[in-house]
Amino acid sequence: MARYSRIVGWGMYVPPRVITNDDLAQIVETSDEWIRTRTGIRERHIVDKPTESTATLAARAARAALEKAGLPPTALDMIILATSSPEHLFPATACIVQDAIGAVNAGAYDLSAACSGFVYALVMAHGLIVSGQADTVMVIGAETLSRLVDWSDRNTCVLFGDGAGAVILQGSEQPGGLLSSVLGSDGSGAYLLSLPAGGSRLPASLETVRNGDHYIKMDGKAVFRFATRVMAEATRQVVEKAGLTLDDIDLIVPHQANIRIIETSVVKQLKFPKEKVFINLDRYGNTSTASIPIALVEAVEQGRIQPGDHIVLVGFGAGLTWAAALVEWGPELPPPSRWRQFLYGLFYPLGRIRSAFRRIRRRFFAYWFGTRERSEEEWRRLRGEKSTSSSEPDT
Ligand code: ACO
Repeated sequence: MARYSRIVGWGMYVPPRVITNDDLAQIVETSDEWIRTRTGIRERHIVDKPTESTATLAARAARAALEKAGLPPTALDMIILATSSPEHLFPATACIVQDAIGAVNAGAYDLSAACSGFVYALVMAHGLIVSGQADTVMVIGAETLSRLVDWSDRNTCVLFGDGAGAVILQGSEQPGGLLSSVLGSDGSGAYLLSLPAGGSRLPASLETVRNGDHYIKMDGKAVFRFATRVMAEATRQVVEKAGLTLDDIDLIVPHQANIRIIETSVVKQLKFPKEKVFINLDRYGNTSTASIPIALVEAVEQGRIQPGDHIVLVGFGAGLTWAAALVEWGPELPPPSRWRQFLYGLFYPLGRIRSAFRRIRRRFFAYWFGTRERSEEEWRRLRGEKSTSSSEPDT
């Protein structure tokens, strides 16, 4: 029997701190007028506490998605987290989220395809489900790009914001869900948008820090030209692949990088009605992998997506990469009973207790067998946190 994958839960989280264009004009030579007319952005949310990070935002969005789906974290078979601002080069941020939400039965890995990452991850989750490898998969896009931008570079610092969005895909025998996808890459443009240092090509050194090589570098005009071309092409291709026409599409949820990119590509090139394109970049800026899931969640919550609707999710990003997916939205599931909600709520503190127990057990064995583990204090220092601050994800 044919297997399909359906979106059964969705959630988002943005940090409370809002930075307006006028706030930015206090720190770099820019203006609200320039940012609004060149990008469409008015404000963005950014993390301002050392305990907030990509994993903590992701864990909150993941929990909201589980609550929406009426599922406990133990129901997850896999967590795929798309990010361009992971907690570390390794371990994967997905593993930290898996532990934070107590998803004890889930595998977890990060996926790196920049702003196209969420759609790439959605397609990977679909593949796992239809091939029978997994039944319930969490897909997250999460970023704290504010930690990677040079706050003295007006070309980039005005564009980005922090946040996380998540969806849960589940296997189904009912036709629908993800109908088609297009994934692309053109590595010849890899250095048009990159974070040059800190990897194996240019390891961290005093010189890389002095040169600001750990900040995002971008050729904005070249990325703009690439984005307008691939957004339109990928949308056209994904619709054709599903055997539909643009008239069958009820809503396009594009990557929220720049209003002019959206208008030039999907609206002008495809002659697609603007009122059927979801836009919220004015309030969040470009949240990279999180932008499409945050927009999707808001679109559903605003009633812009109804059961049976055909939706195109389309993005582009560093790599260079692009990605589109066509989804047939399913019927909303009835919310779980209050008793079940209460029961599932207990899984989160229990997950934290389980995690703490495992750490203590590991330390006990280390002591007993004479191997030495780093203390919590040492780990805190390596993570760049103050020794007095809590290192636990703020879930
Ligand atoms: N405030 C005021 N002036 C500015 C600012 C600013 N914040 N930023 C740049 N300028 C200046 C430039 O210095 C330039 O001045 P100059 O002509 O004296 O040199 C002038 O404004 C015009 O700059 P342009 O580059 O022509 O501006 P443009 O219209 O191309 O807009 C922008 C720049 C917004 C960056 C645009 O090119 C863009 O959106 N590109 C795509 C970027 C993008 O989407 N990146 C995200 C990819 S997602 C990912 O993978 C992380």
